[in-house]
Amino acid sequence: MNPALRRHQRDWEDLGDLDPCWAILAYPDRRFGRWDLDEFFRSGEVEIGRLTADMQRLGHPAKRERALDFGCGVGRLTRALSPHFRHCYGVDVSAPMIAAARKLNTAFPNCEFTLNADPDLRMFPDNHFDLIYSVLVLQHLPTRAAMAAYLVDFVRLLAPGGLLVCQIPSHIPPRRRLQLRRRLYGILRGLGVAPDVLYHRLGLFPMRMTSMPEQDVRALLTAAGSRVLEARADAMASTEIESRTYYVTKPDRMIH
Ligand SMILES: C[S@@+](CC[C@H](N)C(=O)[O-])C[C@H]1O[C@@H](n2cnc3c(N)ncnc32)[C@H](O)[C@@H]1O
Repeated sequence: MNPALRRHQRDWEDLGDLDPCWAILAYPDRRFGRWDLDEFFRSGEVEIGRLTADMQRLGHPAKRERALDFGCGVGRLTRALSPHFRHCYGVDVSAPMIAAARKLNTAFPNCEFTLNADPDLRMFPDNHFDLIYSVLVLQHLPTRAAMAAYLVDFVRLLAPGGLLVCQIPSHIPPRRRLQLRRRLYGILRGLGVAPDVLYHRLGLFPMRMTSMPEQDVRALLTAAGSRVLEARADAMASTEIESRTYYVTKPDRMIH
């Protein structure tokens, strides 16, 4: 694995150990283990409720066999997808997140959680998923190139007539790009300071924020063979960051 991705994985392993629910939904008043689990999982149901309305409106996906929740964390959205698809796959780069997802979702037998540290999703065959859903994930990747590699692979994995929904910040103001807490975390962690001390005593955490302009995302998705149905401004927790959610389908190869 390349060093940047290895460090990225280590960061998310730390976050998965330290405060998984807050690392997923970083509301200031829920920090240090203060998320109520029922409320946390309810937020996933609300979000997927909106998604099902979008699916109806857009007329995609054509089938509801397999859904992929990429960057599933503890399965907040995977479990909410489970009534709507026959099989739901949660994939994450962080072993503690996957361990927690398996433990917390035993009541959802059609959900399967898998660790993946590859820079793409080669573990799955072409045209495999009717829905690919990924929010609050690509924004944390270390580089735009890493983001692009997953986006292209999403298109490969999407079934013709399927629906890809992914959220990506389009612009981060320069002040927010400094990410001093993350940089300091990385330096001190490299010097051997324990994650627990960095997080609980020094208030540092390794979350990174990366963006890609809308025109670049559109160009990439189109070149990969998909069709962008909509790109909508979405409500990120921080209003300073502009973000888009893309609704994308893959035309049937018979037509093209
Ligand atoms: C902010 S959380 C969001 C979790 C989930 N999407 C949700 O909204 O409930 C980001 C998740 O993405 C995962 N992640 C980050 N980089 C990843 C990668 N390259 N492949 C898979 N998962 C990744 C992290 O481990 C973490 O669980």
